Amino acid sequence: MADNKVYRASTTAPVNIAVVKYWGKRDPKLNLPTNSSISVTLSQADLRTLTTASCSASFDGDSLTLNGQASDISGARTQACFRELRARRAALEAADSSLPKLSTLPLKIVSENNFPTAAGLASSAAGFAALVRAIANLYELTDSPSELSLIARQGSGSACRSLFGGYVAWRMGDKADGTDSKADLISEASHWPNMRALILVVNAAKKDVPSTSGMQQTVATSGLFQQRISQVVPANMILMEEAIRKKDFPQFAEVTMRESNSFHACAADTYPPIFYMNDASRAAIRAVEAINAQAGKTIAAYTYDAGPNCVIYFLEEDEATVVGAFHRFLSGVSGWKASAAEAKSSVELPENIA
Ligand code: DP6
Repeated sequence: MADNKVYRASTTAPVNIAVVKYWGKRDPKLNLPTNSSISVTLSQADLRTLTTASCSASFDGDSLTLNGQASDISGARTQACFRELRARRAALEAADSSLPKLSTLPLKIVSENNFPTAAGLASSAAGFAALVRAIANLYELTDSPSELSLIARQGSGSACRSLFGGYVAWRMGDKADGTDSKADLISEASHWPNMRALILVVNAAKKDVPSTSGMQQTVATSGLFQQRISQVVPANMILMEEAIRKKDFPQFAEVTMRESNSFHACAADTYPPIFYMNDASRAAIRAVEAINAQAGKTIAAYTYDAGPNCVIYFLEEDEATVVGAFHRFLSGVSGWKASAAEAKSSVELPENIA
């Protein structure tokens, strides 16, 4: 029965920052990774995407609005998410004829980030996770976050980890159809509630090599990468899960920093080489080393994704030392804008580190 009723559901999804990095696809079409990865979810109070999904016979085709701007939905990734979610809704409708036939109605998706684009954080993870969960809510799907992560993964690999809070693993799986390549929860945020993250933003607008193409250049050309996926990551996955379960910050920090170094070494070993970090990024690494040397133990860890911006992990009890030290160490380094967010609640950072 056709009517013009509008069905609607809203949700939010958090940003996650990997501490064991996803870098490389074994199947670009299904977005299956060459290795497993682990991330820490950042607080939604600071960084999240809010998405509303609606459907109605009165809409003129599917549409997606991101931060107020119409966005292209013809790409294979968005289409894969729409297709999979519609198929799941269609299965429910086939099993229960009293359900409204939402699976055939045009979808309207409206998405907003609560963090400025200038923060330089990749938003695809929170974006696709929120899109998938909003449509799943609209369709009243009963799938678990892990099942939904199979769909979000096809939007953007790192998005599969944003369907959970806390400490999350994306298991690479080994099936050719990707049905075992999904995320699961290692621990809730409440397991290690004093974890904090400080985000340092480099004042550079330069566009980097996008992760999607950068990682495939690495897969195709880096010899070092082969060692990374066969030996380095499998060992780091075990060490990182253990560190999280034991709440062992020095171990968590060392694996986080080694993982960042390993990923950026593989980027540099790509031919032609890819450089995501810049002089300011390297200065922040030196600052973390100095903080840890001065403390006589590891109290801070850096990590970098496909860009020069830095995320520093530390524990709440070391906040004054770490944040204060960053203020001092980086005061002479131009290029940093500075901002803060954390894994649980807000960290107030001096306005300007630069
Ligand atoms: C360096 O998830 O953005 O942030 O699957 O092609 O969308 P696609 O890639 P994307 O890559 C993220 C790479 C990374 C590491 C990580 O988040 O694990």
